[in-house]
Amino acid sequence: MNRQTLQADAPLSATAATPLLSVKDLAVRFATREGVVEAVNGVNFNLARGEVLGILGESGSGKSVSLRAIMGILPRGRTTVTGSINFDGHELLSMPEKELDRLRGPEIAMIFQEPMTALDPVFTVGEQIAETIVRHEGVDWSTANARAKNFLEMVRIPSPERRLQAYPHEMSGGMRQRAMIALALSCKPKLLLADEPTTALDVTVQIQIILLLRELQRELGMAVIFVTHDVGVASEISDAVAVMYGGRYMEHGPAENVLLAPNHPYTHGLMNSTVHGSMRGQRLDTIPGLPPDLANLPKGCPFAARCGHAIPECEQGGIALSAVGKNHFSACLRVEKEGRSFFA
Ligand SMILES: Nc1ncnc2c1ncn2[C@@H]1O[C@H](COP(=O)(O)OP(=O)(O)O)[C@@H](O)[C@H]1O
Ligand SMILES: [Mg+2]
Repeated sequence: MNRQTLQADAPLSATAATPLLSVKDLAVRFATREGVVEAVNGVNFNLARGEVLGILGESGSGKSVSLRAIMGILPRGRTTVTGSINFDGHELLSMPEKELDRLRGPEIAMIFQEPMTALDPVFTVGEQIAETIVRHEGVDWSTANARAKNFLEMVRIPSPERRLQAYPHEMSGGMRQRAMIALALSCKPKLLLADEPTTALDVTVQIQIILLLRELQRELGMAVIFVTHDVGVASEISDAVAVMYGGRYMEHGPAENVLLAPNHPYTHGLMNSTVHGSMRGQRLDTIPGLPPDLANLPKGCPFAARCGHAIPECEQGGIALSAVGKNHFSACLRVEKEGRSFFA
């Protein structure tokens, strides 16, 4: 086969197998007065087109920072991001800001816990969605307005015609959250980054929004990374789950395996500390002890100090994710040495 044939063949065979997003050795450091904060410490994962990854972890484990690194919205200057973030064939970490701007919105969109982070208080919801559609698709305003109304219908905002004229502050929290989702989806992104978008809502509204997101994700074939500290939410939305601690993935695999048959002492602890049947809304703070200081990380496993199964070697460092099943990984020295049953 000559070189040309090889090149012509490559894209075809590559599309099916190539992940939409491939993150390798992602690390994020912040230089602060208190020292260097090691917020993300060697994260690796692939995300397929249309796949939903739930990132589960306690407060301060590096969930938001890793999403912001993918979106390219970390504060500049004192932040160092290393590794590789390949999105649909583009290396985001070396991409000029102008090109990133063309991806953000139409290709990668983000939603937040606080909708006012994304919504502009001085424009109506309709103006904001229509403006995005005009900017990204170059259609005229009446087409964009009609589409904006469709998006409000899609996120099930009642009386969408009237809501188009509303300012964000005239809406309830749940409606604002729906409007932000409509805005994020208005360009039909391939990847949606969701940073605890339901955390501030009451439980009933939370469930409605999660179900809606899952439905829209399937309808649009969109890949999603959904960050949450809530086991119940993670189990409802995710195909795969990553459990984050001290800026690392401690366990990563198919949702049912990670949540129902956890393979890392930390995940095990999280599941045990979650009351079954009333999992939703439960904060992940019932394991004794505190998460590590990211400005002063131990050199070994960050969970060792709180782990009932730790052995002296756990504090020596060099722990990588090892396979414990199909597409299922655990970063535990004892699991690696003794098999998954040692802590069961
Ligand atoms: N701009 C910043 N400068 C310094 N430290 C930061 C910055 N942003 C986040 N951090 C620190 O990084 C760590 C991880 O934060 P974050 O990803 O927001 O956690 P969470 O898992 O709760 O979303 C925290 O210790 C936080 O204080
Ligand atoms: Mg966060």
